[in-house]
Amino acid sequence: MTYLPANGSPFTVSMGMRAMDPNEWIEIDEHIDAEIAQKRELLATNRKQVFAALEEGLAGSQETLRKLIEFLPKRFPERFSEPISIDPNMHPLEQASLLIQEDLVIMSPAPEGQWILSAACVCFPSRWDLLDKVGENLHSIHGPVPHYEERIGYATDAMFSKFTPDRPGWRINWTVLDSPDLFQPSGTGRKARAHESGDLETFAANTYFRSERQTLWALTTGDVLFTIRTYVNSLEQLDERFPQFRENLGKTMITSSAQTQEYKGWGPIWDDIQAWTGVHQ
Ligand code: HEM
Repeated sequence: MTYLPANGSPFTVSMGMRAMDPNEWIEIDEHIDAEIAQKRELLATNRKQVFAALEEGLAGSQETLRKLIEFLPKRFPERFSEPISIDPNMHPLEQASLLIQEDLVIMSPAPEGQWILSAACVCFPSRWDLLDKVGENLHSIHGPVPHYEERIGYATDAMFSKFTPDRPGWRINWTVLDSPDLFQPSGTGRKARAHESGDLETFAANTYFRSERQTLWALTTGDVLFTIRTYVNSLEQLDERFPQFRENLGKTMITSSAQTQEYKGWGPIWDDIQAWTGVHQ
């Protein structure tokens, strides 16, 4: 799937939650085997960076695995033709994560209307570190995100407390980065330019639009399951497929605040983005 949330509208930090058709929960494409292999490798070599589980997250993790075992063979019978059995030697969230391309997070209710990250398998972070977020609430998790607190912090907590298992939702986050890697913990990237400023073809071929389709689904355990499916395309690829993409991206990016530009690490690409999109500040 290709999601193009930078649609020319002014940049805002918003919840942007939409109702999700339960049948569209998980998305599978031709990269699934490579992405699962990459997850397996990261779980073996960088385990502490990509997997964390507190005791409070166990019941939600077990329900997540059961939910997937029921869902996947019905939705994708060509891939999951045999019944999937539970491997008692593996943490249920790790087993769940190795079935699909999505990253998985369990958010558990905590005192005073807070929601804390109680278990997660996140192999494809977009320049953040799971270890900083384990056991933290939504406000602390989003501490580095400009405008989160003033615009949507309390509304997000309230929404989590109102989720019910019969009404899942989804939303999109996106950014533009100078690396196509799926695994990008916080130290990654912000390379010096790989091209001469003004060489816009090279710029567009080596700069990437990264979108995250996120779903939120209340579990019967009282936890909320958060999934993150990451898509990466070069600006060049999207420009070829979607004629409006280039100008729309410029129109949306140009309206972001200085704090957002700083947070997203857009400084090194800012001049080239304006030149390539033709939209100037
Ligand atoms: C409806 C719920 C949520 C909303 C509205 C929301 C909103 C956002 C926004 C606007 C950003 C900034 C992204 C960017 O501009 O690049 C962000 C980043 C982030 N979100 Fe959320 N989010 C939600 C749920 C969650 C949950 C459940 C988690 C749990 C892991 C989470 C983890 C993060 C992290 C780790 C970042 C990056 C923070 C950093 O740079 O350190 N979000 N979120």
